Amino acid sequence: MDSIVIQGGARLDGRIPIAGAKNACLTLMPATLLTDEPLTLTNAPRLSDIRTMAELLGSLGAEVSTLQHGQVLAMSSHDIRSFKAEYDIVRKMRASILVLGPLLARHGEAVVSLPGGCAIGARPVDLHLKGLEALGAELDLRDGYVHARAPRGLTGAEVSFPLVSVGATENVLMAATLARGTTVLKNAAREPEIVDLANCLVRMGARIEGAGTDTITVEGVDSLHGATHPVVIDRIELGTYMLAPAVTGGTVELPGGRRDLVASFADRLEAAGIEIAETPGGLRVSRRNGAVRAVDVTTAPFPGFPTDLQAQMMALMCTAEGTSRLEETIFENRFMHAPELMRMGAEIDVHGGVATVKGVERLRGAPVMATDLRASVSLILAALAAEGETVVRRVYHLDRGYERVEEKLSAVGATIERVPET
Ligand code: EPZ
Repeated sequence: MDSIVIQGGARLDGRIPIAGAKNACLTLMPATLLTDEPLTLTNAPRLSDIRTMAELLGSLGAEVSTLQHGQVLAMSSHDIRSFKAEYDIVRKMRASILVLGPLLARHGEAVVSLPGGCAIGARPVDLHLKGLEALGAELDLRDGYVHARAPRGLTGAEVSFPLVSVGATENVLMAATLARGTTVLKNAAREPEIVDLANCLVRMGARIEGAGTDTITVEGVDSLHGATHPVVIDRIELGTYMLAPAVTGGTVELPGGRRDLVASFADRLEAAGIEIAETPGGLRVSRRNGAVRAVDVTTAPFPGFPTDLQAQMMALMCTAEGTSRLEETIFENRFMHAPELMRMGAEIDVHGGVATVKGVERLRGAPVMATDLRASVSLILAALAAEGETVVRRVYHLDRGYERVEEKLSAVGATIERVPET
């Protein structure tokens, strides 16, 4: 297990390229199962989660070729020979559940391991299952797997989600494209990754209205054809690297950055005193001299403040002037970065879903442990501004969602290196 070693204190100046969105790619890849024609994704991120999804699709009989150093995924599901997503793969990545809807819709059967919980919460999939049952799927849960059948195909229906779920919206949306008749998804997730999936499905011949709003209407079609689709830019990576100059001082250009993808987050960053400018090529973020102000944050489904940027924002608040209140409303256990930040001198009080952060003058480098994907990058951000050396261990968490983080940060002036575990 590699570690990342950072000597804090350097200002950051330069440009950081932002990759395609992990969470868009992880739902776009299973869409290949909806057609026997080739589906090609460009601007794909080079991440371990993407390789895991490719492994899962391969285990079903799909072909996934990675071209141009992994930035292009050429997929074909012409010869699906298995409908079973094995536990060994699913346990590595919960997004594997997203093969359920497409397999059911096109092949009428699927056996998918239940993903189980993860560090940040129980993360059940009941809304995925209820949504697919509403379309006529027959589901049987036994020995840790969902055994799903739709012998007569799926039939369009109204699916009203009791709470907003990105994955359930994606699973049911994909299944509905090949269901007979009309499906209406109510209280649907509005994330940009949903819009990107819908754009890709429409390119493949699906008939979808309303993606990006809380009501999505799908007219089922008999079949979908192949397509080539560019993966939308990763708004969470974008937000993460917007925070880099915010914590260290300096100015960073983010080519391709779009403020509409991070509006709530950008508003909070500006309230804290960070300057964000829209440039012809993307976004420019800078922290002039002067302190960062403490601001309050409450996470919410898009277009609210993203839960996936909560840990990173906390890293900035650790050295802000004043006290900030961060409320996590999406997951039940998403403050595991707090004890690690406290090892660096942060003053954080966690009660239930609320973390209160009292800003301190400076953090001090320390050996810390990554626990989940976004917590690990929060520690990297804190280390960039801390006094002295920080060693972040178990960075395999980081590699799931951030490509070449040490290259991107050292290119703008950070003293950061990856050290293979001896
Ligand atoms: C997606 O997870 C993202 N992952 C997560 O990003 C992100 O944090 C999350 O959406 C919220 O934005 C991918 O897209 C691969 P949900 P997902 O279904 O779909 C509860 C990252 O760091 N729920 O919107 O699993 C659930 O427990 C990851 O990149 C049910 O109760 O999230 C949670 O409390 C972490 N039943 C809430 O809903 C269900 O059937 C939102 O979950 C499904 C979800």
